[in-house]
Amino acid sequence: MAPRKKIKIAIDGPAGSGKSSTAKRVAEELGYLFLDSGAMYRSVTFLVLRDGADPHDPDASRAAAQKARFRFKRDDRGERVILNGEDVTDVIRTPLVTNNIAPVAANPAVREILVKKQRALGKNGGIVAEGRDIGTVVFCDAELKVFLMASIDERTKRRARELRARGIPVDFDRLLHDMKRRDQSDSTREHGALKIAPDAVHIDTSELTLDEQVAFVVEQARKRGA
Ligand code: CDP
Ligand code: CDP
Repeated sequence: MAPRKKIKIAIDGPAGSGKSSTAKRVAEELGYLFLDSGAMYRSVTFLVLRDGADPHDPDASRAAAQKARFRFKRDDRGERVILNGEDVTDVIRTPLVTNNIAPVAANPAVREILVKKQRALGKNGGIVAEGRDIGTVVFCDAELKVFLMASIDERTKRRARELRARGIPVDFDRLLHDMKRRDQSDSTREHGALKIAPDAVHIDTSELTLDEQVAFVVEQARKRGA
């Protein structure tokens, strides 16, 4: 049997489509590195807010991206994000951070810095990276590109369940509005917009279970030598 290759797998899609849950499980099954690029944009936004700076100030977000040092580790609580030595896994997923990301993620200087870090992590292959621009910008040469989709109602229900499970109160209509706004800004910004790579495999996850979508991606990866 031919030796297995260490390929790059890019998973893109809108919020709540299942990117991180799928990417994490696929990475575990293949023994690959898991890269949550959204955690990087979230962390930079968190730094800007904590410094009391304005997320719309391009110099403040560029400076935050420059000083961000990331470490990703897995412990008994799951995947953890360590930013400049501090565990920020939970705080970067609060609505305050989520609702301030758009201007930071639209800043081309921030994107340039973070894309460079993401490419460095994937330079030897053996990576499952998820985000918005992985298959179109970060790893254009990924052997497998997947675009996940699900209806806006289903995605909002999933996000509401996650937030409630973490004890964060949710007003469903407000969350639906925020999700739509984020879809809009993610797909219309000039740099790093959410687009479907022409060579991506599409999966609508609305009617699938997580197990089914993981099995599908692993099968596609195996077909490409992983
Ligand atoms: O989990 P969810 O899809 O809600 O968010 P995420 O993947 O953690 O990404 C949070 C935000 O970061 C997105 O709405 C994007 O604006 C931004 N992002 C980006 O610009 N580029 C990426 N490669 C990943 C995330
Ligand atoms: O990363 P992204 O925002 O695209 O999605 P996620 O953080 O993986 O969240 C999706 C949520 O929906 C998780 O709680 C999953 O367990 C759940 N889910 C899914 O991803 N796929 C399904 N087919 C069904 C549920």
